[in-house]
Amino acid sequence: MPSDLAVINCRQLVTVAGPCLGIIHDGAMLARDGRIERVDTRAEIEPFILPDCDVVDAGGRVVMPGFVDAHTHLVFAGNRAAEFEQRCAGATYREIAVAGGGIRATVRATRAATEDELFKAGRQHAEWMLRSGTTTAEVKSGYGLSLDDELKMLRVIRRLNDSGPLRLVPTFLGAHEVPDEYRGRPSDYLDLIVNEMLPRIAAEHLAEYCDAFCEEGVFTVEETRRVFEAARKRGLGLRLHADQLSNAGGARLAAEFHAATADHLEQTDAAGIAALVAAGVQPVLLPGSVFALGLHRYPDARAMIDAGLAVVLATDFNPGSSPTPSMPLILFLACTQMKMTPAEAIAAATINAAHSLGRGSSVGSLEPGKLADFVIHDCADYREVVYWVGAPTVADVWIGGRNLRIPKS
Ligand code: NIG
Ligand code: FE
Repeated sequence: MPSDLAVINCRQLVTVAGPCLGIIHDGAMLARDGRIERVDTRAEIEPFILPDCDVVDAGGRVVMPGFVDAHTHLVFAGNRAAEFEQRCAGATYREIAVAGGGIRATVRATRAATEDELFKAGRQHAEWMLRSGTTTAEVKSGYGLSLDDELKMLRVIRRLNDSGPLRLVPTFLGAHEVPDEYRGRPSDYLDLIVNEMLPRIAAEHLAEYCDAFCEEGVFTVEETRRVFEAARKRGLGLRLHADQLSNAGGARLAAEFHAATADHLEQTDAAGIAALVAAGVQPVLLPGSVFALGLHRYPDARAMIDAGLAVVLATDFNPGSSPTPSMPLILFLACTQMKMTPAEAIAAATINAAHSLGRGSSVGSLEPGKLADFVIHDCADYREVVYWVGAPTVADVWIGGRNLRIPKS
């Protein structure tokens, strides 16, 4: 069967397959039924382009895989712009949380929203991501914190995934915070997670992963262990908000459970990094939240890379600590603040991220057999995608070989 889609005239076809991002100069690509068939130079590909094949002329620009954003809180109601203003005036994230704002404010708004309202909000956030060049995103629940509201969030994630075009991977984050009605009795809330939420979620296949916020003042290592044991029994993969604001032993706990990922890791020390290496846990670094909270301690990405870890970069998109859906911004922060190279950052945001979500054989690079999820960037060199901070370099996005026709801003 002949190919139905050809992409030609790519100044750099950034395949992310092989060393140096597998860049093919004057590259071209063939796809059929939404899957990549061949990537090579234009000269090699051209003889295979038959008359009724759709031909996309990339105009001498950069073509690369869509970003895979492996840590987001894409579904929530309302926003926290008023809290943002308070933080601009000097209030801290923790002070606002203690006063009843923060995550708990978004929980109140999300509980009050109908499924349709949440779906609409999620659609808008997904649209922002697409315009930033993201084609796959992990999405966490965690603003419901009751059986019905967590199920509501996970159903919205499923609906968003079914209606496309963004590909979504659902994660259950019931242990994001102790809800108001359980204040002072966290173990009763853990009972609810373990005895009611997890069994329902597993039975309805509403989540692939389970996550928890292991942090001083939120869930202890012991409490998180209870959630992880129950989640593992139900067949869910594990991810963990670890060592974000304090070194509470999150990285070591993620290692103990051989979790897929340990996320944040701003406070993780050398022993924590060694534990991740020994257990094969991928670090997911979220510099957007450090930046947006006005903090200065970024995770030690260089030490993690030097230790051989396949580092992942993600937005942590949420209405509080990281209100950005933009992977290019995250890559810029990774390079300027954590001293990653642009090539390391792109690999972290595509193939490494795909592996961390169990999607390493379908997305994250441009290789035969993978889904044709790719982006044309308005530039001639891959480093420009990272370097022109704030510039809308994303010119066009394809998911499964289908053009999304991003409206020009
Ligand atoms: O990943 N750390 C906990 N959860 C989010 C913040 C969520 C919020 O502020 O609404 C995070 O940073
Ligand atoms: Fe998060």
